[in-house]
Amino acid sequence: DQIKKVDRFLYHMRLSDDTLLDIMRRFRAEMEKGLAKDTNPTAAVKMLPTFVRAIPDGSENGEFLSLDLGGSKFRVLKVQVAEEGKRHVQMESQFYPTPNEIIRGNGTELFEYVADCLADFMKTKDLKHKKLPLGLTFSFPCRQTKLEEGTLIGWTKGFKATDCEGEDVVDMLREAIKRRNEFDLDIVAVVNDTVGTMMTCGYEDPNCEIGLIAGTGSNMCYMEDMRNIEMVEGGEGKMCINTEWGGFGDNGCIDDIWTRYDTEVDEGSLNPGKQRYEKMTSGMYLGEIVRQILIDLTKQGLLFRGQISERLRTRGIFETKFLSQIESDRLALLQVRRILQQLGLDSTCEDSIVVKEVCGAVSRRAAQLCGAGLAAIVEKRREDQGLEHLRITVGVDGTLYKLHPHFSRILQETVKELAPRCDVTFMLSEDGSGKGAALITAVAKRLQQAQK
Ligand code: BG6
Ligand code: GLC
Repeated sequence: DQIKKVDRFLYHMRLSDDTLLDIMRRFRAEMEKGLAKDTNPTAAVKMLPTFVRAIPDGSENGEFLSLDLGGSKFRVLKVQVAEEGKRHVQMESQFYPTPNEIIRGNGTELFEYVADCLADFMKTKDLKHKKLPLGLTFSFPCRQTKLEEGTLIGWTKGFKATDCEGEDVVDMLREAIKRRNEFDLDIVAVVNDTVGTMMTCGYEDPNCEIGLIAGTGSNMCYMEDMRNIEMVEGGEGKMCINTEWGGFGDNGCIDDIWTRYDTEVDEGSLNPGKQRYEKMTSGMYLGEIVRQILIDLTKQGLLFRGQISERLRTRGIFETKFLSQIESDRLALLQVRRILQQLGLDSTCEDSIVVKEVCGAVSRRAAQLCGAGLAAIVEKRREDQGLEHLRITVGVDGTLYKLHPHFSRILQETVKELAPRCDVTFMLSEDGSGKGAALITAVAKRLQQAQK
């Protein structure tokens, strides 16, 4: 009976096949707006040219540094590409913390901190005397007119440092390094994490022309025909487009599936009104949606004996890893109760069934919505090439995709259903985007040298 009543609250979280098909169509229309010159400036899905034109051909080599900033973990890497003519990548890396005071503080200090971490890494690896080429993975929307420049459009997810928006982040990093006056680097490329992921996987599988992140944030990039990219001169070949699909819906075009729980989450976020699709589909927000629903159910007396505890009122208690644990099929209800207890939520057995149900509805919606976006892109690629059938590989990374027990399966099923004429292979990126950024740097270096 309790469960039935709860079901009524989850009704708007459930999307029919028709709705999903419709969302896929709307996403396609928004993509086209982003690609067209006159509608791009106001498009919700920004479709940013990345100036990455080719995947590595295997002839790249050398030693590179790579930075990976903007996901759940910040790291510095040293990447050795190809040795003795062999297609092979070797990496050494170090994680560094990203305290809130830094990522939500002053922009100059943020980049000084990044330079500090670089210095520390170079010291441990004894690299300070070398002027190595560096690739920066920067997981935020940037406008680019070339590979080695990226103007931050706006922070997303948990970052909000001052004086960075509208600035070239490569310049900010370069200046911070210069001020230290201690080592020198050649910053060759700035890439989005989706692009880095596509490259990491593209090194193994040349059919990989899409990069997907389902992690703290949600985003996708893909190889588009130059003739379709009105924002860049030239009609030959392809270029990778960073869709920044997280902004889908910011113009109100998915308001019909937006619930009051989504509104609550949005209003409590660092960027209200922005990144609506991301807020329905990514790790940083799913737990918050769950919490909002639980609060509502408790208010209605359907949970926790009607008592809203201080804990339940606390933002951010449900991290992706808890959702993943709660939804794991191997867990007995007793264990779910134990997890809730750890979170400071005193639950009955019935309560834990309800919580699991809520988590399931929220993560299923996320996976399906993400699948609808992906289906739109593969269908577009199929049509553009005039193919009866398309075979394509998607390189994927992100904690939500990797840790959640059902997300990846539901995502894949949805793509299959919505784009039946596309044969999509999902390839998990094991090495993160830092490797891909180094590969892009290696390609750029090879091209630079060929021009000399
Ligand atoms: C990592 C990449 O593997 O995946 C990061 O190297 C990226 O750059 C991340 O941002 C996405 O996942 P999450 O879950 O850490 O945000
Ligand atoms: C956010 C960022 C985007 C990034 C994604 C995944 O959506 O805006 O650039 O790719 O998160 O990390």
